[in-house]
Amino acid sequence: MRAITVRDRDAGVGGLTLTDMPYPHAAENDVIVRVHAAGFTPGELDWPGTWSDRAGRDRTPSIPGHELSGVVVELGYGTTGLTVGQRVFGLTDWTRNGSLAEFTAVEARNLAPLAADVDHTVAAALPISGLTAWQGLFDHAHLTTGQTVLIHGAAGGVGSIAVQLAREAGARVIGTGRADDRDIALGLGAQTFLDLDADDLRHVGEVDVVFDVIGGDILERSTELVRPGGTLVTIAMPPPVQPKDGRAIFFVVEPDRVRLTDLARRLRAGRLKPIVGAVRPLPETASAFARHRRTPGKTIIQVADEQGGQHS
Ligand SMILES: NC(=O)c1ccc[n+]([C@@H]2O[C@H](COP(=O)([O-])OP(=O)(O)OC[C@H]3O[C@@H](n4cnc5c(N)ncnc54)[C@H](OP(=O)(O)O)[C@@H]3O)[C@@H](O)[C@H]2O)c1
Repeated sequence: MRAITVRDRDAGVGGLTLTDMPYPHAAENDVIVRVHAAGFTPGELDWPGTWSDRAGRDRTPSIPGHELSGVVVELGYGTTGLTVGQRVFGLTDWTRNGSLAEFTAVEARNLAPLAADVDHTVAAALPISGLTAWQGLFDHAHLTTGQTVLIHGAAGGVGSIAVQLAREAGARVIGTGRADDRDIALGLGAQTFLDLDADDLRHVGEVDVVFDVIGGDILERSTELVRPGGTLVTIAMPPPVQPKDGRAIFFVVEPDRVRLTDLARRLRAGRLKPIVGAVRPLPETASAFARHRRTPGKTIIQVADEQGGQHS
């Protein structure tokens, strides 16, 4: 089968190569999914699981990409809950071959059924961004109605979903990003927007929750904005400093079939809109990863068309 692989950690994005790889093996409780659309995360070539398995052993050549939408074509030994021919979407394991391939093996519990009226290219934009935004805002920061949340990267994959979920939960939302992101962030429901290149973060005042996707200096400066008892949650890096009288949390998103099902329900009801910035075929994955100034939202790799035909 055709897949994108990486072998050399130092090669960066230039190491992403279209390769012929063996059809995957379905282990216990796995399904094999014929991938129609796949998502990737900027930065995943730096994640440990891209290079090593759970025992820390080298697992190259490895297939990146950890979001998918597709159709189940095979069940592993003892797998229940999903059936062959079913449309599904969800996450693949960080330490196994991922979704930038024609077929991938996934634990069934990491996937949720997908209704026939949702396009695979839209569904593939939801798993990591949707689950990360939900878990950050509500499971870790316990955001509630009437609170104020500062969401960095508000036009990006995770930030754009976080803005919509926070607003629907009744929070006051301040979004940040580049000057060009302003209209997108305000259009998604942010009440205020800050251009991180031009505006002073200190003008935000105190907030109940900071949701950081950027890290570094912006993460450090945002710590001072957390009100006593508030929370800074970051998905970029372990926070180097803690808010004076609050909490700071770094986490990695976890699979959750129930939440995926809820996110898909919101999407079908028009309450949640993942921003699909660009759709590219599998052979163009390297240039999609590398684009210096990406299209706002998620770039999706279309692997097969709706009928299952190869998309190249
Ligand atoms: N821990 C986890 O579980 C987890 C889960 C998902 C993602 N992540 C990580 O979180 C980060 C964000 O993911 P994503 O999918 O949301 O990425 P994304 O789609 O690229 O969104 C990030 C947004 O932040 C903006 N941004 C970045 N640096 C900025 C700066 N200095 N000033 C102003 N705007 C800036 C980006 O704008 P430009 O495109 O113009 O730079 C983009 O709009 C990535 O590093 C990813 O690896 C972690």
